[in-house]
Amino acid sequence: MSSKASALKTAALKPSALKTAASERVLRVGVIGAGVMGSNHGRVLAGLPGVRLIGIVDPLPGHRARAAEMIGCRTFGTFDELLDAGVDAVTIAAPTHLHCELALACIARGVHVLVEKPIASTVDEGYQIVTAARRAGLTLMVGHVERFNPAVAAIKQAIRGEDILSIAITRVGPFPPRMSNVGVVIDLAVHDIDLIRWFTESEIIDVQPQLSCAVAEREDIALLQFRTASGVLAHINTNWLTPFKARNVTVATRGKYVMGDLLTRQVTECFGFQPDGSYSMRHLPVGHDEPLRAELIAFVDAVRSGKAPAVGGAEGVASLEIAIKCLQDEPPVAPPVETARRAAG
Ligand SMILES: NC(=O)c1ccc[n+]([C@@H]2O[C@H](COP(=O)([O-])OP(=O)(O)OC[C@H]3O[C@@H](n4cnc5c(N)ncnc54)[C@H](O)[C@@H]3O)[C@@H](O)[C@H]2O)c1
Repeated sequence: MSSKASALKTAALKPSALKTAASERVLRVGVIGAGVMGSNHGRVLAGLPGVRLIGIVDPLPGHRARAAEMIGCRTFGTFDELLDAGVDAVTIAAPTHLHCELALACIARGVHVLVEKPIASTVDEGYQIVTAARRAGLTLMVGHVERFNPAVAAIKQAIRGEDILSIAITRVGPFPPRMSNVGVVIDLAVHDIDLIRWFTESEIIDVQPQLSCAVAEREDIALLQFRTASGVLAHINTNWLTPFKARNVTVATRGKYVMGDLLTRQVTECFGFQPDGSYSMRHLPVGHDEPLRAELIAFVDAVRSGKAPAVGGAEGVASLEIAIKCLQDEPPVAPPVETARRAAG
């Protein structure tokens, strides 16, 4: 077919047919950062239907080689090389302090963005990304991956329509193998701040943090208390001083008590409270999806459909803002010298 005939044929297509064509086109996606998260993004994207993984960019040759071997994809040493290879969308899994610069550069080139959590280092940077994406009419999603954990989805389903009273979340574990320049509040608690906002569908209006630096320079223990605009009380217990990983969520509503283990993915609800103290209990069905896969499918769907993504940029900024408020309100307290000496071994 000549190019003129093809153009005429396209012009004759109804808008709905053009939309269908766009939604069926293979989406070209790149990954920025070949570290722990970026390698996982690459692995998952390489296996998604309707997606072509164009490649992963990282300045470190060793990280590029590891990603190429693990995923079998192209790698690039510079951001421009990846974008010049032609991408419709990227996922950003570079260190957090680079999120803003990288996201703005992608948006300036008309590329849709999923940025890992936290959206940026500061609230101002987060707003810059949100504003730029909105002006450019591009999809911006934030990688709050816990929302895609099937156990979290089961809890959300169990409390739908319930009058939520309180939420308690425990997210503890050992020190990460590579220490970044953030403490437990920005690294871990931001996941749960997002969950509290999502479960309650209400904003946090009161923050009461207690922080301590037991071993690290930044806070490595945080006990955070919140009140939402809807009146829910919430609590996060997080630290890097527990020898094993634990991620537990409990939600008390007027009619139910829901308990979820985000690692074993067991979710149980107690209900039917009787005046004599008796109640019923049942395990809830929980799916098996890999959370990151579900998150990236949601991102790809949002890009294709143009609909609001599951976790928008403004939500990422709102959760970051609360995390930063916890740090501003309560300077971390160093433990007594003797405790620190014993903990350090
Ligand atoms: N959603 C989650 O559960 C989760 C878990 C871990 C980390 N994260 C987030 O993912 C991001 C990355 O964390 P990580 O643990 O993978 O860190 P990492 O240190 O393992 O990886 C970061 C990678 O980015 C590369 N990099 C540095 N500058 C770059 C640049 N200009 N362009 C491209 N790549 C660059 C580094 O060389 C490194 O390979 C952080 O924002 C972190 O908060 C999210």
